[in-house]
Amino acid sequence: MKTLIIANWKMHYGPIKAGAWIRAFRRERLPKDVDIAVAVPHVSLAAARASLGRASIPALAAQNSFWIDDGAYTGETSPAMLLEFGVQYCLVGHSERRKNLGETDDMVAKKAAALQKSGIIPVICVGETEAQNKKGETNKVLRQQVSAAIADLKDGGKVSFVFAYEPVWAIGSGKPCPAQRAKEAHETIRSVVAKKFGAAHAQETIILYGGSVDARNIGEYVTTTGVNGALVGGASLDPRVFGLLCRAAMPT
Ligand code: PGA
Repeated sequence: MKTLIIANWKMHYGPIKAGAWIRAFRRERLPKDVDIAVAVPHVSLAAARASLGRASIPALAAQNSFWIDDGAYTGETSPAMLLEFGVQYCLVGHSERRKNLGETDDMVAKKAAALQKSGIIPVICVGETEAQNKKGETNKVLRQQVSAAIADLKDGGKVSFVFAYEPVWAIGSGKPCPAQRAKEAHETIRSVVAKKFGAAHAQETIILYGGSVDARNIGEYVTTTGVNGALVGGASLDPRVFGLLCRAAMPT
């Protein structure tokens, strides 16, 4: 399975800066054995697509989607609209949305299913808070979030969804989750996927780690069994730093 690295710019870079980032990143030496995507704000998708031209690396990702293709849903963006930009992945249920916008497990499930149906790969973010972690509830929280998120997903015979384990306490904190602990969390996620889709499907499911990943620690994650790549926030904002990180994720 190829390592997958997804940049998550969060609410950074409007169209002008997004275009410049893509052009600068394209000048980086990019590893062939790593799949790379960049999750940009909706308003910057057109500029990012234009700067990419015919190039397909990095793949384009969105940070959110609604679950209906069109209608009276002011302010929302549908999977069909995202497809017009050639979006291949879309983040779903990032903890910042769960916390700041009240995104529930039910909404996450609907978004993931709608994206899968449209052919965009949902990247479903799950993870426990610091308080839950301290209470020893990590596995319980993960089982709940993952089983809810996959409730409406279909087994199309091929892997059409990705998970990102992002412990909330590790995001933007400079305190990454030790790789061995991430490994255990990934095993929990995989076991829930296996219950619904079978062991073989679960084995092929890409599960990323996210939370304070940088060019120095990426190597530890991608060499840990069951960790198939990373979702990268802060360390993706500078195209050169992100290029370095992608090269450091290359299998040796
Ligand atoms: P971080 O963010 O790399 O800045 O910790 C990761 C994320 O929230 O996806």
